[in-house]
Amino acid sequence: MSTDTMTEASGLSFEFTEEHLMIQKAARDFAQNELLPGVIERDSKCIYPKEHIQKLGELGFLGMMVDPKYGGGGMDAVSYVLAMEEISKIDNSVSVAMSVNNSLVCWGLETFGTEEQKQKYLVPLAKGEILGAFCLSEPEAGSDATQQRTTAEDKGDHYLVNGTKNWITNGKYASVYLVMAQSDLEKKHRGINCLIIEADAEGVSTGIKEDKLGIRASDTCSVMFNDVKVPKENRIGEDGFGFKFAMKTLSGGRIGIAAQALGIASGAYELALEYSKQRKAFGKEISRHQAIQFKLADMATEIEAARLLCLKSARDKDTGQDYALSSSMAKLFTSEVAMRTTVEAVQIHGGYGYVKEYHVERLMRDAKITQIYEGTSEIQRIVISRTILK
Ligand code: CAA
Repeated sequence: MSTDTMTEASGLSFEFTEEHLMIQKAARDFAQNELLPGVIERDSKCIYPKEHIQKLGELGFLGMMVDPKYGGGGMDAVSYVLAMEEISKIDNSVSVAMSVNNSLVCWGLETFGTEEQKQKYLVPLAKGEILGAFCLSEPEAGSDATQQRTTAEDKGDHYLVNGTKNWITNGKYASVYLVMAQSDLEKKHRGINCLIIEADAEGVSTGIKEDKLGIRASDTCSVMFNDVKVPKENRIGEDGFGFKFAMKTLSGGRIGIAAQALGIASGAYELALEYSKQRKAFGKEISRHQAIQFKLADMATEIEAARLLCLKSARDKDTGQDYALSSSMAKLFTSEVAMRTTVEAVQIHGGYGYVKEYHVERLMRDAKITQIYEGTSEIQRIVISRTILK
């Protein structure tokens, strides 16, 4: 049984609509037909998938949940999870760009931006004409995001921004950055602002592309701001709203990364299942050995539980409920399932699992980042435990 039919079979059906299934199929076709050929070479040579991401935008996958009046697809978060899973089964360098653009940049602008900011920035971002990046992490402010060293000095009609952001997805190819910066140190995190900064503004530069363990083709680099003048109208929300903006935005981002981890797990599981039915050892297909059957049973069970958590969180978002808790739970559990499942998928493949041609080693390397970005597993545990102990 393939993993994506299991949720419906479980009785806890999410009753996918025709539209959900169409979106899932469109994402699957794109991943299989356009991303699969060349994914190994792009990964090993760190080649940024520029044309693929452009095509993703043309298909409407970069602004999926944005209101059509701002150029988006007007879809729900369940559709987003289904699409993210399919793309992530194949190419996580593409799905990370998709996730950041949809849930961090577009959602943040649509929910908290002014009408002018939406017309100027959200419309081209949602149409996939340009990419955006979310600039929170710094050399000394990763998990402890309150410790922003990047400054946005209030100069009356504009801010003067100085500082360095690290590990920025879409860093070189983004046209627009959402940048968290400290305007008033005395106010601590309540002095942080989020500013929209254009990539071609004077004083903006980018560092070298990071040479990473996984998602190797993705565009990850530092972004530097040196006396960058940012007009006041580019601030999102009230003065000092930047930290809350980042936290609220990250709650939705975690649904996207949970769905990415789900795709990594289900992609690796499907490959292992197929391989186990072909490969023979000790006189029969390895799927007929109990040692392999038990691994497959554990993988399928964990993936099913992870999928339900992802869909639950997406449905919380779609129905207007608080999803900070469910998105952290989904990300924590699914990223750990992705790690365990990919390790087992490599094991089932034996020596073949260790070579690039069989795809599972790439998925295993990609899985690790889902336990780190948009809040490590430890950060998710902080969010969850604080909520349940409140
Ligand atoms: N929604 C709204 N407000 C929130 C919130 C949420 N989800 N979480 C926190 N806040 C508010 C709090 O209510 C509090 O408000 P007040 O000042 O009014 O009291 C304020 O923010 C400070 O909150 P805390 O006291 O809880 O702050 P903290 O420092 O103790 O902990 C944290 C916060 C959860 C650890 C947070 O720092 C965090 O999430 N860190 C991880 C950062 C992260 O995920 N970075 C990812 C970078 S982006 C990325 O990876 C993208 C990519 O490239 C793929």
